[in-house]
Amino acid sequence: MCGIVGYIGEKNSVNFLIDGLKRLEYRGYDSAGLAVLGDNENNVEVIKKNGRLDELERAIQKESPQGKTGIGHTRWATHGKPSEANAHPHIDCKRKIALVHNGIIENFFTLREYLEKKGHIFTSQTDTEVLVHLIEENFNGSLVETVRKVTTLLGGSFAIAVICSLDPDLIVAARKDSPLVIGLGEGENFIASDIPALLQHTKNILILEDNEIAEVSRNGIRITTFDNKPIDRKVFEVKWDVEAAEKSGYEDFMLKEIYEQPTAIHNTILGRFKENNEIVLDELALSEKEINNFDKVFIVACGTSYHAGLVARQTIERWARLSVEIDIASEFRYRDTVIDNKTLVIAITQSGETSDTIAAVREAKRRGGRVIAVTNVVGSSITREADGVIYTHAGPEIGVAATKTLVSQIVALYILALWLTQTREQADSSIIRKIIEEIKSLPDKVKEVLLIAPHIKECAEKFVNCADFLFLGRGVGYPVALEGALKLKEISYIHAEGYAAGEMKHGPIALLDKDVPVVVVANYSSVYDKILSNILEAKARDAVIVAVATDGDENIKQFADYVFYVPETHELLSPIVTIVPLQLFAYYIAKKRGCDVDQPRNLAKSVTVE
Ligand code: F6R
Repeated sequence: MCGIVGYIGEKNSVNFLIDGLKRLEYRGYDSAGLAVLGDNENNVEVIKKNGRLDELERAIQKESPQGKTGIGHTRWATHGKPSEANAHPHIDCKRKIALVHNGIIENFFTLREYLEKKGHIFTSQTDTEVLVHLIEENFNGSLVETVRKVTTLLGGSFAIAVICSLDPDLIVAARKDSPLVIGLGEGENFIASDIPALLQHTKNILILEDNEIAEVSRNGIRITTFDNKPIDRKVFEVKWDVEAAEKSGYEDFMLKEIYEQPTAIHNTILGRFKENNEIVLDELALSEKEINNFDKVFIVACGTSYHAGLVARQTIERWARLSVEIDIASEFRYRDTVIDNKTLVIAITQSGETSDTIAAVREAKRRGGRVIAVTNVVGSSITREADGVIYTHAGPEIGVAATKTLVSQIVALYILALWLTQTREQADSSIIRKIIEEIKSLPDKVKEVLLIAPHIKECAEKFVNCADFLFLGRGVGYPVALEGALKLKEISYIHAEGYAAGEMKHGPIALLDKDVPVVVVANYSSVYDKILSNILEAKARDAVIVAVATDGDENIKQFADYVFYVPETHELLSPIVTIVPLQLFAYYIAKKRGCDVDQPRNLAKSVTVE
C-alpha cells in the first residue's frame, strides 16, 4: 500500500506533489519519489530517495526540478525491499514514460519474463516495473489507449498514474481495487490516493471507480471504462476543511485523535435518533420483511475494526437475539462459510480500503449474503461493494493506530444492533430508549476519562522498560483487552498479549512474574467477581496489576497497584470508556520510549494489499 499523487496545470508540479505526499505519508513511508515533464525536456526527470519524505525534499532543494506535469509516490514495500531502486516512479528503457502504482500485480513474474525476453532492462525488484515496460512495449502513439490495452494483461490490484514525454499535457490514471481520486482546479487538476492530499487545493472531487481510466489534462477530465465506455461522473464536494486533517496544536495526530473521541461519538450519533428516540438508518434501504428474514449475522473485519466487531457480536446477540459469527477477513475469505440470503454480513473497516475486508465482502455476496459496511470514508471502495453503508463520521484519522474511528465504529454498531432489535421487536421500547439515552451520554463520559490523562502519563512512564505485558478482560472487556494490547505493541514495540481473563490459567499464567505487568479491564459488570479472582491469580505470581475500574470502586485498590477510574455506564457500552485509558497508556509509554506514534515502523494506515 502506497500513496500516489499527480498534478497538471500552469505551476511547477513539484510543490503540489511534495505537499500531497506529506498528507499521504500515512499510507507508507519507506521511500518516496517524483517524476516531472519539463517544457523543453524530451525525457522525464525522476528523483527518488530511500527513507522518509524529508530525504526526497532535500534532494529536490538541491536539484530544483521544474515541470508543469508530474506524478509522485510514497511507498510501503510489498515486492522488493525498501531502497532507492525500488522506489517509484519507475521508468521505461527509453526514459520517456514514468509510472507510479499502488497495489500488487500478481502475474508480474510471467510478465517480467516475457518483457525480459523482448529485451527490456529491469532496474528494480518491484512488481510495478513491469507496468511501465508493458506500456513501452505496447505503445501505439496514444498513451491512454496503450494503458487501456495494458490493463487487460494485468492480474491483481492497481491504482496507477502515468506520464509520457511524447504527450506532456496528459496524465493517464487507472484503477482496479485500489483507491484513486481526482481533484478539479481552475486550469489545473490533481490526482491522489486519498482526499486529504487534495483539500488545500480543491474540494471538488471525482472518484474514479474500479475498471476505469481517466485522462487528466489541465483543462478537463475524461473518464472511460477499461472497455472504452464514456462515464459521466458527478462531482463530489468535500465538506471537511484542511484544518480537520491537521494536528491543531497537539504533539501528534494520535493524541489529537484520542481527544477528538467525544466529538467523533457525537457525530456518529448525530441524526440517528428521532425526538421520540426512534432509530433512523434509512440509508440501509432494508425492508422490515428482509430484516425479519435474517437468521444469522456474520461480522468480518481486520485489526482494530475486528475488535469493534467483537463488541458488536455481544450487543446483537443480547439485544436483537440474532446468532452472530465473526471472523478476521483474511481468514474468512478462504473459509467455506455457511452464508445464504438469510445472513446479514457486517463488514467493518475505517478506511473502506482494506483489501482482505473487501475480498471477504465479495465472497459473502457471492454466497448470497446481504452486506452492510461500516466505514469512515465516504466514497471508499467498500461503499461500492456493500448493499448498504453506515458512515461513522469520525472525521479523517491520520495517526496509523486507530483510536477515534474505533469508538465511532462501536457506537455505529450499537445503533445498528438497536435498530435490528427495534425492527425485530425483540425488546420493549422503554428498554431501547434507556440504552439510547445512555449512548447519548457517552461523549461526556469520555471527556471525563480524558481528564485523568496526567495520572495515566505518570503511571505509564513507570513501565517504559518492560518487555512484556498481559492484558485481560472478560465479556465486552475482552475485546478491550485485545485492543489495549494491540495499541501498546504497535506504537511502543513492546510485546503485549490480550487474553480472555478466564483463559489465562490455560497457558499464559506460565509467563507471569514480577516483570510482566498485567493490565485488567475490571469495571463493574456481570463478571466483576470473576475478574477479581483473575487479578488475584496474577498477583499470586507477583505480577504488578494495572486496573481499569469504575468510579467509586474503592475495593479494587486492595487488588491493583495502579487504577484508572472511568464513569459507570451500561455494561455493553462500557468499551467506549474503558478503552480510552488504555489508548493513553500505550501513547505515553511509546512517547517516553521515543517512538513515532503517528507512523509506527512497518505499518501503514490502510492495508490495500493482501
Ligand atoms: C490498528 C489499526 C489496524 C486497522 C486494520 C483495519 O491500530 O489501525 O489494525 O484497524 O488495518 O483497517 P480498516 O479499519 O481500515 O479496515
